[in-house]
Amino acid sequence: MLRVLKTNGNLFIFGSFHCIFTIGFILQNMFDRRIISQIVWYKPNAQPNITCRMFTESTEFIIWAVNNETKKAKNWTFNYETMKAMNNDKQMRNMWEIPLTPRSEKKHGKHPSQKPIAVVNRIMLAGTNEGDLILDPFSGSGTTAVVAEQHHRKWIMIEKDKTYNQIAQMRIDELTGNLFEENSIKEKSPQNTIRHRPYVG
Ligand SMILES: C[S@@+](CC[C@H](N)C(=O)[O-])C[C@H]1O[C@@H](n2cnc3c(N)ncnc32)[C@H](O)[C@@H]1O
Repeated sequence: MLRVLKTNGNLFIFGSFHCIFTIGFILQNMFDRRIISQIVWYKPNAQPNITCRMFTESTEFIIWAVNNETKKAKNWTFNYETMKAMNNDKQMRNMWEIPLTPRSEKKHGKHPSQKPIAVVNRIMLAGTNEGDLILDPFSGSGTTAVVAEQHHRKWIMIEKDKTYNQIAQMRIDELTGNLFEENSIKEKSPQNTIRHRPYVG
């Protein structure tokens, strides 16, 4: 990601406590990348803990970093006013209470860790602008692409599982009214790629 992301571009990484500290350590200590914020996504309807040996997991963490050395990072995108407007005209805090992905977002098929549109939407509006190109290298069932389409961002999605790619394709088709060219593109595309609007750089 650091290789392909533009200098001072935003990087948002999701993780649970199992991995997020390691990722933060690598970003800071191996790559000297500037961490701007950590966001805590609190899930008020999290599943109960069946072992009863620990606290019920009800949070996920999002590291927001900028692709530049800590001391050099500058001019990163943060749409402060948009965030404030989305929070009743108060500064947006870094603790977001958003329920688990609703069923209505899974009607084209299930993905075990599909992010809710509400979470990705907030990240997208905070950290990108219209026309920006967004890369999700672990795109699952395509929430990032769906939200990017809604807000007129360009996108590239990478996902190894064909079933999840098909779900993503259906979600995008539904949103765009299947505006993609259906003819030869579909036939020529390997199953594990998603057809998308041609990106003109
Ligand atoms: C947490 S899920 C992604 C959720 C998705 N970003 C969303 O917003 O709903 C991670 C995904 O990464 C995919 N994945 C894991 N390793 C991969 C790899 N090496 N290349 C491509 N995809 C991979 C998994 O199949 C899984 O669907």
